[in-house]
Amino acid sequence: MKLTNCLTIIIAALLISCSGSGDDDPNVSPTPTPTPTPTATLKESANFPIGNIVSANRLSGTDTYFRTLLNKEFNSITAENDMKMGAMFVGPDTYDFSKGDAIVNYAKANGLRVHGHALVWHASIPNWLKNYAGTDAEFEAQVKGYIKTTVAHFAAIKTTEGKSVLESWDVVNEHFTNDAAAAVFNTRIGSDYVSKCFTWAREADADVKLFYNDYNLGSTGSKAAQVVDMVNTFKTNLTPIDGIGMQMHIDLEYPDLTTLSNNVTMLKNTGLLIHFSELDMSVNKDKSLTTLTASRANAQKEKYKQVAILYKTIPEAQRFGITFWGMRDTDSWLINFLNNPNEWPLLFDSNYNYKQAFIGFLDGLNN
Ligand code: XIL
Repeated sequence: MKLTNCLTIIIAALLISCSGSGDDDPNVSPTPTPTPTPTATLKESANFPIGNIVSANRLSGTDTYFRTLLNKEFNSITAENDMKMGAMFVGPDTYDFSKGDAIVNYAKANGLRVHGHALVWHASIPNWLKNYAGTDAEFEAQVKGYIKTTVAHFAAIKTTEGKSVLESWDVVNEHFTNDAAAAVFNTRIGSDYVSKCFTWAREADADVKLFYNDYNLGSTGSKAAQVVDMVNTFKTNLTPIDGIGMQMHIDLEYPDLTTLSNNVTMLKNTGLLIHFSELDMSVNKDKSLTTLTASRANAQKEKYKQVAILYKTIPEAQRFGITFWGMRDTDSWLINFLNNPNEWPLLFDSNYNYKQAFIGFLDGLNN
C-alpha cells in the first residue's frame, strides 16, 4: 500500500474515532418521528423555566436537531461542564471564558435564560490550584479574584433590554461531602469559606441570583437539614443567598415520593427559590435489564409525572425552575457514573424520540 493511501486511512480512522466521543455526535442524522406525539411543549406547559444542559461544542456542532429540540422544548440552559472552575480558571489570575461566552451568547441569540454552574465544586478544582504553593492568604485571594472576575464577566453579557442573560450561579456545589478534595477550601480559607464565596459573588453583581446546590437533598438523612441550618446561619450573619438547588439525581424507588415531598417542604420553608437543578431518573440501578421494558418505562413515566406535580406545590414566587441533566438517554452522565450502558434516565431516547417519561412529565405540568 502506498504511504499516502495508508495515511488517508489512518486519518479517516482517527476522525471516526474522535467523532463519536465528543459532545457533538455527527454520526446522528436525526429525522426523529416523535412517538407518541406530545400535545404541547414543556416550556409552554410550565409557568416556570424548564432547562437542559449544553456544551459549547454541541451548540456549534453538526447535530442541528439537538438545537432544534432545545429551542422548542426548553427556555433555560446550564453548561454541563464548560462553566466549572476547572474549565475556566486556567492559571493564577488567568481565565478562559471562551466556551462560557459561546453558551451565554447562544442563549442571548435564542431568548434563553442561563443558569451558571458552578463557581466552586470539589470535583472541578484545577490542578494548579489544588497544588498552589502560595500562602493561605494568597490562595484565598486567588479564589476571591476568580469568583469576582467570573461573576462580573458574565453579568456584562446583556439582553437587548439590558438584563443579564445569565440570571444565577451555583456559587458552591456539594459543600456537604466527605470528598477529600473539598477539604482544601476549609483548610486554606477556613470553615466560613462558603459564606465568603457568596459574599464575593454578591459584591461582583448585585442582581445575580446566588444558589447553594447539592445532591441527596430529597432523601432521608441529614443533608437537607444541614442546608437549612446553613441558610439560617447565612440569614443571621447577613450572607447573601437566593436559592437552593436540589440536584434530583433520583431513581424509581429512591427517594420515595413522601420523603421527597417532606424534604421539599423543609427546604421551601426557608423562603428561598427552589431549583430542581439536575433532574434525571435511573431505571436500572440493579443492572437487571438490557432493554427498557414497558413496565419500567411506565414506572418512569409515572414518577416523572409526580415530580412535576410535586414541584408545583412550591409557591409560585419560589419556583426557579426544573433543569434536566441531559437530552437523550445516551447523553447521560449516569452511563459513566453508574458504569452501566443500559440506563435510560432522560426524556428522549437515543434518536431523540419522545419517551413515555416525557409524556408523564408533561402530564404532571398540565395536571
Ligand atoms: C457531571 C457531568 O455531567 C459530567 O460530564 C462530568 O464528567 C462530571 O460532572 N453533580 C453535578 C454536576 O453538580 O456538575 C455533575 O456533572 C453531575 C453531578
